[in-house]
Amino acid sequence: MMKTKHTFYMAPMLGITDSCFRSAFTQCFGGFDLGISPFIRTLQGRRYKASSVNDLHDQYNNELIVQPQIMSNQADDFVHLASHLFDMGYHTINFNMGCPVPTAAGRARGAGLIKELDRVDRLLDHVFENIPNRLSVKTRIGLDHDNELLPMIKVFNRYPLHEVMIHPRTAKQKYNGSVNHDAFHSACKALDHQVVYSGDLFSKEAFDHAVKRHPYINKWMFGRGILWDPYLLQKIRGENFSLNPAQKNEFLLSLVDLYRRKGLSDHIILTKIKTILFYFGVGFGYPRSVIRGFRKSRKVDDLLRLSMNVVY
Ligand SMILES: Cc1cc2nc3c(=O)[nH]c(=O)nc-3n(C[C@H](O)[C@H](O)[C@H](O)COP(=O)(O)O)c2cc1C
Repeated sequence: MMKTKHTFYMAPMLGITDSCFRSAFTQCFGGFDLGISPFIRTLQGRRYKASSVNDLHDQYNNELIVQPQIMSNQADDFVHLASHLFDMGYHTINFNMGCPVPTAAGRARGAGLIKELDRVDRLLDHVFENIPNRLSVKTRIGLDHDNELLPMIKVFNRYPLHEVMIHPRTAKQKYNGSVNHDAFHSACKALDHQVVYSGDLFSKEAFDHAVKRHPYINKWMFGRGILWDPYLLQKIRGENFSLNPAQKNEFLLSLVDLYRRKGLSDHIILTKIKTILFYFGVGFGYPRSVIRGFRKSRKVDDLLRLSMNVVY
């Protein structure tokens, strides 16, 4: 049993952890205290993708408290979207400074901001002057090299950030190679803000190791680990549970039901469920033939039937 009160965050994963996923997961497996939404990118001229904001409406988000995430490098556009989210009831916004994809990082967005000290300083200055919301930041330890975040931390310390989430990889690594606990530790030492750890918490052993390594942290973010093992948080919390294949199927059925009620096309649902099943497939050790079957499925119901029939 855990003694320290740990808080668990569901990581934002674009294309996966939308409102339907967050709700279905919470109903079936529970365990999270909070979720961060996948990023909403601001578009030039105070615009944004309406469907991403629509996903944050109350009606889709009763199961888990959520912090919306914005990716932007334009202060005005950021303020406009954050204010709209405030009107929708969101009092804390998360600022994405960690996205590694070249279309973002190569254009001074996401992780591309890590070395832009003056730009971020100006941006935060303008944002804090003009938004009613609290602000947290999600970032990495560097763009190309470990510890590149350290100079930016001096900027972060000038502002009343709510908390800082750090993935201990560089953007160049994307999700490859290992996380750097030393660089994470250095960042924590330099930061005046509360820190949330995010990276490779794939098992109870990995979590216990991270807790031992960083005893001053009590906020933890889980991403791919819950896709490989949706029972992970129950294991970590030391709760009694039984590995119940029916629960996994219930999750998929309620997810599809929520997608359909939200009006998503079967084509989009198929893609989303396939992505989740590939993760489940690895985590639960599905035979290759089953994974091949997932790949070939052209209908949501065929895909669900295949998944229901897997014995593990
Ligand atoms: C498919 C995928 C999509 C992601 N989308 C986002 C995103 O929208 N915003 C963000 O800040 N991080 C995003 N991330 C990073 C995760 O939030 C998390 O920090 C990272 O996966 C490390 O945690 P993990 O090892 O527990 O998965 C994404 C990661 C993956 C694998």
